[in-house]
Amino acid sequence: MKTDIQSSGPDSVDAPLALASGKKLFVKSYGCQMNAYDAARMADVLAPEGYAETLVIEDADLIVLNTCHIRERATDKVFSELGKIRLLKEARGAVGLQTRIAVAGCVAQAEGAEILRKQRAVDLVVGPQSYHRLPELLRQSAAGPVVDTDFPVEDKFDHLDQPSNDKVRQRGLSSFLTVQEGCDKFCAFCVVPYTRGAESSRPAEKIIAEAEHLVQAGVREITLLGQNVNAYHGEGVDGSDWSLADLIRRLAKIEGLARLRYMTSHPNDMREDLIRAHVDLPALMPFLHLPVQSGSDRILEAMNRRHNAADYMRLVERIRRARPDIALSSDFIVGFPGESEADFAATLELAEEVRFASTFFFKYSPRPGTPGADLADQVREEVKIERLSRLQDVVEAQRRAFNASLVGQTVDVLFEKPGRHPGQIAGKSPYLQPVQVEGPARLIGRVAPVEIVACSSNSLFGRLENSLLEAAWAQEAF
Ligand code: 5AD
Ligand code: SF4
Repeated sequence: MKTDIQSSGPDSVDAPLALASGKKLFVKSYGCQMNAYDAARMADVLAPEGYAETLVIEDADLIVLNTCHIRERATDKVFSELGKIRLLKEARGAVGLQTRIAVAGCVAQAEGAEILRKQRAVDLVVGPQSYHRLPELLRQSAAGPVVDTDFPVEDKFDHLDQPSNDKVRQRGLSSFLTVQEGCDKFCAFCVVPYTRGAESSRPAEKIIAEAEHLVQAGVREITLLGQNVNAYHGEGVDGSDWSLADLIRRLAKIEGLARLRYMTSHPNDMREDLIRAHVDLPALMPFLHLPVQSGSDRILEAMNRRHNAADYMRLVERIRRARPDIALSSDFIVGFPGESEADFAATLELAEEVRFASTFFFKYSPRPGTPGADLADQVREEVKIERLSRLQDVVEAQRRAFNASLVGQTVDVLFEKPGRHPGQIAGKSPYLQPVQVEGPARLIGRVAPVEIVACSSNSLFGRLENSLLEAAWAQEAF
């Protein structure tokens, strides 16, 4: 639905963008990696309109908040931030500077025009499927606030400009790339099927072109994104239906692309060909984010997850049989309605059994419009807090144990940036852990073997082979 709250006449649509070149754009993104990707694409779509990105919000002529609706706290944050931005808009206005405020992302989709009622300083509300229309919507908003939360028939990706090579390099050696969006699973706690819409997969040809563009600009690692990424089924280059594994096999052939990752996966869509890809393709990293949410069959059923704990454990076993070193990661929700102490004990048991390398854990947050919000037997906040802390103890110990298990081993590290201290460089292990070593900056962008000598709960510390270090310092072969 597209609503012009204050009618904007036809000439406002065609009016030149009141924002001549030289304007500054500040984008703040909340929530998931897809929001981070969308935020970058919004900057790309606004660049030809003369907007340069700034990190200083006070300098911005246009402020975009790319919002998250997944939990209540994420939504609340948006409105408190908007309160501060209103004061900024007023202060800039007092010295004759115009400031436009746009609310994008999932809160925009879920709340639409309600946002304008809650915060009148907002000029534009734009949903995740309409942000390619930002330039046009900004023109319209010159005549009064505009809301566009359409799910348009056209594909937004067909209307997004590719970023310049400089811009790609500025964003780093590791890049996100959305391949699939939306979700048809309707887990009882989750707003995604409502805010991001039905599952849809981009055609392989478009994804390959975007990946090639990123790689020729210097990107060395791509993480394929989708709310349900392993349900990807897009049109292949030969016209047939491609799975995520088919897509990854093709992308792995791009020369210069060192690493591929993907997230987030649903256990029920973990097909055999994708598991095989982890065996066959050196570029596909041995890391899998595979949320389970709960270890209790009763709660999994109430959550409408469509699998039980034993199904998940069997899947983990299959994956580990194929790729024994794979690092597994998960999301957990504690305190879903009806969760008893015995249900929670089953969650702890599952976590103990799997031994996750990393984990995200959340207190259940009832979301308006989702079935979970209407369930009786909501769990008390103190109980959620207590369970979260018990789960945290278990999974943090697992993370430390996983990091410690790598000490003494040699792992390939993709170096991405200067390290914390002079003379150091930082990168990532295949298992997504940050790694710090002493080494020359000219190794940034390269993958090199590193002997891990120490670890903390979040990072690894390692040593490059002497021969490599000497050659790098001497600039030989580099
Ligand atoms: N409350 C708490 N956590 C949630 N998540 C999704 N919806 C909710 C909610 N209503 C968590 C799930 C999901 C992750 C992205 O966020 O664990 O996998
Ligand atoms: Fe939300 Fe993931 Fe469930 Fe889809 S599969 S409804 S995105 S939790």
